[in-house]
Amino acid sequence: MITERWSSRLGFLLAATGAAVGLGNIWRFSAVVGQNGGGAYLVPYLIAAFACAVPLLVLELAIGRHLRTDVISAFESAKSGYAPLGWLVVGGVFLILSYYLVLAGWVLGFLFSWLVGSQVTFAPFTDGWLPVGYFVVVTVLTGGVVSLGVRGGIERLARIVMPTVFVVLAALALYAATLPGWDRAATFLFTPRFEALADLGLWSVAFGQAFFSLSVGQGIMLTYGSYLDEGTTLLRSALVITVADIAAAVTAGLVIFPIVFSFGLEPTLGTELAFTTLPAAFATMPLGRVVAVAFFGLLFFAALSSAVSLLEVGVAATANTTGYGRQRATALLTGGVLLAGLPSALSYSPVDLAFAGRPVLDLVDESVGTFALPISALLIVYAFVWQHEFSRVQADLGRLYPLVRYALPAVLAIATGAKAAGVARPAWRLLVG
Ligand code: PFF
Ligand code: NA
Repeated sequence: MITERWSSRLGFLLAATGAAVGLGNIWRFSAVVGQNGGGAYLVPYLIAAFACAVPLLVLELAIGRHLRTDVISAFESAKSGYAPLGWLVVGGVFLILSYYLVLAGWVLGFLFSWLVGSQVTFAPFTDGWLPVGYFVVVTVLTGGVVSLGVRGGIERLARIVMPTVFVVLAALALYAATLPGWDRAATFLFTPRFEALADLGLWSVAFGQAFFSLSVGQGIMLTYGSYLDEGTTLLRSALVITVADIAAAVTAGLVIFPIVFSFGLEPTLGTELAFTTLPAAFATMPLGRVVAVAFFGLLFFAALSSAVSLLEVGVAATANTTGYGRQRATALLTGGVLLAGLPSALSYSPVDLAFAGRPVLDLVDESVGTFALPISALLIVYAFVWQHEFSRVQADLGRLYPLVRYALPAVLAIATGAKAAGVARPAWRLLVG
């Protein structure tokens, strides 16, 4: 039974927004949008967010608040013997955290380098051991925040970080509006292409990104919901979190793409965009160093508050199921994630750890970071809506209930199927030769 609580509704909203707004909004969103034709991608993304992610967010918050427990025990309450499904969800989150911290470490490394004026770019950075060192630093920092508890750690961090992140993001967007490439960027981002809606792959990418970005379907919001007081309206909270997350992503797009177009860079570079392309522009643009420090600083703090939420899922589950205190559970999991993340960290280091020719980090991102998300979401809907109808949860969902019960599993199954087909084809070719 969980006894910790957020100190106020605002504290909860900041913490949940802190969980949502992270690398997904800035690094991943711009990569995905750039590779999927800009505005063409935005329509399925908004539909995925509002029609699917919002109801699921309400569902998770409702389960957490009703059961007042962690993900593993919650599954066990849905049906006895279901705890292993909870382990799967918690394990998935743990693996996401393991490479998320590596990326957050790169961001910290870039922040320091631009702060001291050495203007690092990607290739020399990942040719050295610094990425591994920064991974360790960020992991220990994340563990430190979580060990301080729900109010003293997670909420306090969010209260400082989130307002700053939004102010800095807005300031950068104003700066980007003065660049010559702004018009092209806005056209690229906001021109919808309705014929692209016939592309199933685009939908699948949009759903994956919406779930990743909103931290939904992974037990994160379930865990945060378990610290929520009775008075908070869940639908309104879910909408606030969603709008804030989308606003952060779109604003980040309005920072990144004007730079990309103004400096003749390629919008389709994907993962490399934030780490290779942008630093090249920072190095030549007016006020480049200030912009770089603001950009990597905001990215780092957004990433830290998200990493904290990912770690909290495992810590709450471990503390609750073993009876360990928060400190001990945090120490255990922080140590565990240092080990689990090491292969990803080493894949961008002098060791270049790779599997089938691909860096381990990319493989974990594509498998767990993309594929496991809808599966975890399906498990949650299956256990808490199909197997056991908690009347309180049903009441909290209200008119969203049929959406969660019927539409959501159908959409998730299609998204998973489409992705499975996409993964199976190259894997099969790899095997057959
Ligand atoms: N939502 C956060 C982001 O957009 O960076 C962190 C995150 C949560 C990533 C859950 C992935 C995930 F499955
Ligand atoms: Na996000």
